[in-house]
Amino acid sequence: MKRVFVNGYGSIGSRIAQFITDDSDIEITGVGKYSPDEKVADAISRGFKVYVPKDKTGVFQRFKISGTIENAVEECDLVIDAAPGGVGYTNKKTLYEPKNIRAIFQGGEKITGNKAVAELIFNSRVNYEKAFDKTYVMQGSCNVTGMGRILQPLKEKYGRKIKRFDATLLRRWADLEDSKTEVKDSIEWTRKPHHNEDVKSYMGSDTPLFIRVFKIPTRQMHVHLMDIRFDGQAPSAVEILNLYKNEYGVATLYDAKGTKDIRDFAESIKFGFKDTNMIHIHADLIEVQDDTVKLTYSDDQTGIVVPENHLLMQAMLFKRKREDAFKHTEELFHMEDKKRLLEDHFRKQ
Ligand SMILES: NC(=O)c1ccc[n+]([C@@H]2O[C@H](COP(=O)([O-])OP(=O)(O)OC[C@H]3O[C@@H](n4cnc5c(N)ncnc54)[C@H](OP(=O)(O)O)[C@@H]3O)[C@@H](O)[C@H]2O)c1
Repeated sequence: MKRVFVNGYGSIGSRIAQFITDDSDIEITGVGKYSPDEKVADAISRGFKVYVPKDKTGVFQRFKISGTIENAVEECDLVIDAAPGGVGYTNKKTLYEPKNIRAIFQGGEKITGNKAVAELIFNSRVNYEKAFDKTYVMQGSCNVTGMGRILQPLKEKYGRKIKRFDATLLRRWADLEDSKTEVKDSIEWTRKPHHNEDVKSYMGSDTPLFIRVFKIPTRQMHVHLMDIRFDGQAPSAVEILNLYKNEYGVATLYDAKGTKDIRDFAESIKFGFKDTNMIHIHADLIEVQDDTVKLTYSDDQTGIVVPENHLLMQAMLFKRKREDAFKHTEELFHMEDKKRLLEDHFRKQ
């Protein structure tokens, strides 16, 4: 039995903690909270011990707090850091490194420059075994994770026949449960998006990938418009879609009107947190023109990284064989069932 502490109980931390409680190989020792708000009571009501920073214990007096984060990290085998982007680096320097504690960081951190949290970005489709002996690993962000699931099968099948991947990312403004962030009536662009560098870090620096990123006023998922240019005539749409038939965490949908349609279905069928935990290729939008395949897929922003964190944890804590890790993650997340239900509901009419 390994002991895991989840530091940060927001969109990502609360999901990870909830799913992992069902793993009999792991004990969640507790979760870290920094603000004395309603999520403290939520965590306690779900059976989690809540820990808070030593210098903030005073403001949590009305809650049943189990101790300090400083002590909690000393008593676990691994921390899953789910802090706001950039704060994970501070935690590494002030908490984990001095106490020699292994940690998984989330996609809002960096792997280059003077605030790098790790050398490796994890993607279970590409580099599962590389995480085995690492002390610190960063789980790629939702967009970065989804992109690996699209690019790696293409790379394996077509290799150097692919000349370019040009992707436009339409990012959601805020998460569903994020009541603090107002969704502005604007479309914003991102200069120097981190996604290019992050994806190339695990796909290879020579990957001919070019990404543009726009933030749009919705809370319902991301959409990626991916143009794949081949050297010569591009493969047929059927051939491309067949490539993803048996890919983990990739559903092929024909009849969805938009991202909310998918989220509503996930809610109606009682998927945890309304998450599908995967990406969805919109097969009714695929087009092939001469040398180019135009592929559109949506990406469940909050859900997709949660089973990935579980896979990463198995690599770091147990060095479990990849296929066994996937089997074990399946017992908790039921990805195959979710894929089947989604594909059946949004099937070709
Ligand atoms: N949301 C997504 O769709 C998504 C997807 C993939 C990856 N990510 C990445 O996951 C990470 C977390 O994002 P999120 O969306 O879960 O953020 P979030 O909902 O804003 O939650 C952040 C949590 O971190 C806690 N926190 C504050 N200071 C902290 C500290 N010093 N150490 C640890 N935790 C601290 C906050 O606690 P209090 O509420 O108690 O103040 C809050 O519970 C980021 O790196 C993000 O880029 C997010």
